[in-house]
Amino acid sequence: MNSQIKLDINSDDVLENQYYISDIRKINDDYFMTHGIKMKFHVITYGCQMNEHDSEKMIAMLKNMGYEAVDAYKDADLIVFNTCAVRENAELRVFGNLGHVNHLKKTKKNLIVVVSGCMMQQPHIVKEIKEKYKFVDIVFGTHNVHNFPKLIKNVLQNQKQVIEVWDSEGHIIEGLPYERKLGLKAYVNIMFGCNNFCTYCIVPYTRGRERSREKEHILQEIKKLADDGVREITLLGQNVNSYGKTFDIPYNFADLLTDVSKIDGIKRIRFMTSHPKDLSDQLINVIAENKKVCEYVHLPIQTGSNSVLKRMNRKYTKENYMEIVNKLKDKIPNLTLSTDLIIGFPGETDADNDETIELIKEIEFDAAFTFIYSKREGTPAAKLEDSIPEDIQHLRFNKVLTVINNIIKEKNAKRLGNVYEVLVEGRANRDDSYLIGRSRENFLITFKGSDDLIGELVDVKITRPKNFSLEGEIINTPV
Ligand code: SAH
Ligand code: SF4
Ligand code: F3S
Repeated sequence: MNSQIKLDINSDDVLENQYYISDIRKINDDYFMTHGIKMKFHVITYGCQMNEHDSEKMIAMLKNMGYEAVDAYKDADLIVFNTCAVRENAELRVFGNLGHVNHLKKTKKNLIVVVSGCMMQQPHIVKEIKEKYKFVDIVFGTHNVHNFPKLIKNVLQNQKQVIEVWDSEGHIIEGLPYERKLGLKAYVNIMFGCNNFCTYCIVPYTRGRERSREKEHILQEIKKLADDGVREITLLGQNVNSYGKTFDIPYNFADLLTDVSKIDGIKRIRFMTSHPKDLSDQLINVIAENKKVCEYVHLPIQTGSNSVLKRMNRKYTKENYMEIVNKLKDKIPNLTLSTDLIIGFPGETDADNDETIELIKEIEFDAAFTFIYSKREGTPAAKLEDSIPEDIQHLRFNKVLTVINNIIKEKNAKRLGNVYEVLVEGRANRDDSYLIGRSRENFLITFKGSDDLIGELVDVKITRPKNFSLEGEIINTPV
């Protein structure tokens, strides 16, 4: 089910773009009247949930402009690449895919090619697109999403490349509609940007300074979502634990979680991402005691070595991290904990990597997203010497991955016979008799069942634990 909600609070910029949306809608409706088919779009998203949610906003705008979604990019009249800059391989994939689209554009003259997102916040990338990818029609950055309709109108009128990249954030844009992939789950931005400046990370440069949305705006949005059938929401921010720090009145992330949980209809509340330095006791208590807040925390550690943590500017030690984990595990017995790891940061030694492995074994994460360090121009770490040769990075990466995979396999095996409440999301695969969903703990669970269970909460007993997911049988369906 696809669903879009309209919000009552609209920024002037959103209202201005309504005119462009109606203009383009007229053009696209005329096209439909004369050709009998709709203009089509395809959006390709790279990177994190923040980007996925931005894509949801673009998709809503495109549909309001009269475009129709299409599965294959070859069939589209407008293609969007919403890009990520966090690691080099994400950037390389975008340039590779742009190459394919160049071929397509030669046979399809009216195709509109759009590139947006974090990569566009880097001047050298925009320069490269201007010089080498002249067929790209629209370039815009992370602070310009609301102007998407204006930029399309511009291209339709002038048929010239348009570029709009603000180099710093303006005020928070309220009121952009968005299209949810699943009717029952929604992402909600609670804050934008990041002030942490971890030395390896490009995000503070691509997303700007940290700013929190007003709680009233967030709560109103979630109420509307609940009325529209949403049962699970994920509150989004690069560092949700520092929500509200810029407010005049004391109001923090734990307070927000408590207020969100009072909204009728919402059954599960998730959040991403938590930075260990800001995880308060008040927050731990809310996760432990509030029935709607899921017992799942994604808490990136990055490395188990204090000297590397210091050079990463993470502002905590492994001892601080352990202390938080122990508190979490104490207060929340059924906690699921996942993490992010960076392997091969400049100057990392074999001994540092061993410390990371020790810590992983001690904590026994339920999931870990492990990345090889990627040098990002413009970040402080790019200037560090002692970069680690690729073959050593790979060796260490594989060592870490083997340890993690073994832990997860063992933990999953112990889940045999456990019963989990699963929110059914859909078919595991097309034409499959299996349904798929997630438990409160964020476990991916598959089980046999009929379509009418999609969108429902069911109890599933695990019968076949696998390496990265769990298979089970429904023992209790909703009445
Ligand atoms: N705001 C989140 C993470 C955003 S980026 C947080 O601080 O937890 C997601 C993950 O990408 C990071 O946690 C980190 O593990 C990884 N990452 C960021 N920059 C990277 C780089 N230059 N090389 C490799 N991995 C990186
Ligand atoms: Fe990047 Fe660090 Fe901010 Fe996360 S907290 S987005 S890793 S700078
Ligand atoms: Fe990538 Fe931007 Fe997210 S760099 S990880 S898409 S904030």
